[in-house]
Amino acid sequence: MNLLVLGANSDVAHAVSKKFAKEEKVNLYLASRNMEVLEKKAQDLQTRFGVNAKVLFFDAEDGQSRKDFYESLDPRPDGVILAFGYLGDQEKAQDSFEEAEKIINTNFTHAVAILEVIAKDFEKRGHGFIVGISSVAGERGRKSNYFYGAAKGALSIYLSGLRNRLSGRGINVITILPGFIDTKMTEGMDLPGALTASPDEVAEDIYVAFKKNKSIVYTKWFWKWVMAIIKSIPEPIFKRMSL
Ligand SMILES: NC(=O)c1ccc[n+]([C@@H]2O[C@H](COP(=O)([O-])OP(=O)(O)OC[C@H]3O[C@@H](n4cnc5c(N)ncnc54)[C@H](OP(=O)(O)O)[C@@H]3O)[C@@H](O)[C@H]2O)c1
Repeated sequence: MNLLVLGANSDVAHAVSKKFAKEEKVNLYLASRNMEVLEKKAQDLQTRFGVNAKVLFFDAEDGQSRKDFYESLDPRPDGVILAFGYLGDQEKAQDSFEEAEKIINTNFTHAVAILEVIAKDFEKRGHGFIVGISSVAGERGRKSNYFYGAAKGALSIYLSGLRNRLSGRGINVITILPGFIDTKMTEGMDLPGALTASPDEVAEDIYVAFKKNKSIVYTKWFWKWVMAIIKSIPEPIFKRMSL
């Protein structure tokens, strides 16, 4: 199996690459921007699991090269993990639309742009699976991160539609909804220990979702119920809460 990992330098992506390398002996296409870090990750995977790991420069923002990038993959992948993301700075985004735009584009627009290229190919071949890492932040807007939340919410809706489009062709689209994860994205934040997953835990959930052809997976599992409660809070109360 050939697995394309977009944003392969993400801590979660690396854990997912390890899991698939160990369990499925996949050939990996590791795509991201920082090539020095990516080379080290590829070396680690090759040494530990004896798999092929090819590194590729991929910047989701570069619209010009998106199609060429995908078409350069030979053989084409059997599955894709969409892992890149950008949390950004909410306050900065309120002050300057440039930051807001970067958050929206990285997490939504650019993700959709590359997934559309991949979806078309998978649809034509009648083969493949797509894992999209969204976030529970997309389930209800909060003042502390509503640009990021809005982009992830839009991504979740997009993935739902894509799943609906591709399921008839035997292609599964899996939406991953993590709560907090201990990664470089959340470095320096005071995360609640009991609610926080490690990248390896998230990777395990993603792998099980792939094996069982699941559609939507919260990770850790209890976020499904946490979010059900959060979503059920009436707006008159919710708008007075500091979240
Ligand atoms: N950490 C959390 O608490 C949490 C919670 C819910 C959802 N998520 C989501 O889970 C996914 C993985 O997160 P993580 O915590 O593992 O993140 P991370 O360690 O901070 O890694 C994010 C990666 O995204 C890549 N990236 C950003 N912009 C890119 C672009 N324009 N083109 C290509 N790559 C780009 C970066 O690659 P380079 O290093 O190569 O620049 C970076 O290594 C993300 O989608 C994130 O939004 C995270």
